[in-house]
Amino acid sequence: MKLAENKATLSFSNGSPSVDLPVYQGTVGPDVIDIRKLYGQTGMFTYDPGFLSTASCQSSITYIDGDKGELLYRGYPIEQLATQCDYLDTCYLLLNGELPKQQERQDFHKLVINHTMVNEQMQFFLRGFRRDAHPMAVLTGLVGALSAFYHDSTDINNPEHRKIAAIRLIAKMPTLVAMAYKYGVGQPYMYPQNDLSYAGNFLRMMFGTPCEEYKVNPVLERALDRIFILHADHEQNASTSTVRLCGSSGTNPFAAIAAGVACLWGPAHGGANEACLNMLEDIQRQGGIAKVGQFMEQVKDKNSGVKLMGFGHRVYKNYDPRATLMQETCNEVLSELGLENDPLFKLAKEVEKIALEDDYFVQRKLYPNVDFYSGIVQRAIGIPVNLFTGVFTLARTVGWIAQLNEMISDPEYKIGRPRQLFAGSATRNVTPVGDR
Ligand code: SDX
Repeated sequence: MKLAENKATLSFSNGSPSVDLPVYQGTVGPDVIDIRKLYGQTGMFTYDPGFLSTASCQSSITYIDGDKGELLYRGYPIEQLATQCDYLDTCYLLLNGELPKQQERQDFHKLVINHTMVNEQMQFFLRGFRRDAHPMAVLTGLVGALSAFYHDSTDINNPEHRKIAAIRLIAKMPTLVAMAYKYGVGQPYMYPQNDLSYAGNFLRMMFGTPCEEYKVNPVLERALDRIFILHADHEQNASTSTVRLCGSSGTNPFAAIAAGVACLWGPAHGGANEACLNMLEDIQRQGGIAKVGQFMEQVKDKNSGVKLMGFGHRVYKNYDPRATLMQETCNEVLSELGLENDPLFKLAKEVEKIALEDDYFVQRKLYPNVDFYSGIVQRAIGIPVNLFTGVFTLARTVGWIAQLNEMISDPEYKIGRPRQLFAGSATRNVTPVGDR
């Protein structure tokens, strides 16, 4: 970050002295006004619920240009990473800042694959849940519970510990997601198999059984790997900000990541792919494409509380570049599985077409986001709807860890502690209950 030529001067209509605030420039993107001394100089806070105009940190990991519909991981466009790299290359890049050279790539892949098993006790932890528990409830518990098993990598101020915890979380998340699924369907867990790829291993742990050999379909394996790449990181989104704030207290990385899992579950965030698929299935049940117009009227009626799930984004005011890539993957998977005429996919494309031509959405710059097509791909692969956010969790774990480690390795970082505009009662005295 470098000091800009420009500076900000805050003046007040009530005659209070004006305040000069430094403006900093990043490599690319909006400049920032440094308000850290504002309260000390004016006795006032800034006010920005929802953080629409607030940069919470300085980061070098992911850059998004919402107007251009651009997403870069460490400077590399998502379109190039999703077509020329695999997910573990992307993990190495997000964690270390550079793509791996050949030997680094082999070592990293081997390191991750050799940490995919979880402590055998974890299966007994699962037994505490009802079989019909939502997988995200199970995952929130399982990820937090990792801190009970891996004490030797919980000192966040030890760079070696941070590295081991990162590898453990990236390696074990697919195993935990698959265990949450198997527990729900009452099937035995499948142990990881180290001669498979990261995505292939996940497919086998999900859909394999001890009764027969599981053959990984390379098209589905590639599709899943791309889904992981597209969801790996996304700047200071709600769950990443949760992980940073939670981690700023000095808690262990497993606990901080568990907080991110809980936040991602929400339907306005990572839970949108599940909500989007449920929305499409509802429209399908009510009559399909013929009913889309009526549904759109509901969405435009503010009192209905109905949103077009998978549409809109706080940052993208253009097409989410991940949605374009996800649609391509959708086409590949559906044709591989002979589902080109999948009614839900056709309905989704019709909904997208209608929305992109409708003034309500055009005026508000609402475009499909990453969640609009990811549910259709995952459903075609056989992943149950209530596990979609679990897959998002699996993919986003590396982004959360990279952002957490970036914060902790910044000597300037402090515990996050926002203030407020107080609108409650001023001081008053307690009166005896008989007089209230
Ligand atoms: C993810 O932050 C990230 O980077 C998240 C994510 C990541 O990778 O981490 O990209 C992943 O969470 C993607 C977003 C998934 N969520 C959904 O698809 C749920 C549906 N989308 C909306 O809930 C909404 O678009 C948000 C939450 C995503 C963004 O909301 P904002 O930025 O707070 O925008 P807003 O609610 O202020 O909306 C602006 C206007 C409003 O109308 P007006 O009051 O101006 O009349 O657009 C409307 C909103 O009502 N609007 C929608 C809409 N999204 C916004 N109207 C109908 N359907 C929608 N989906």
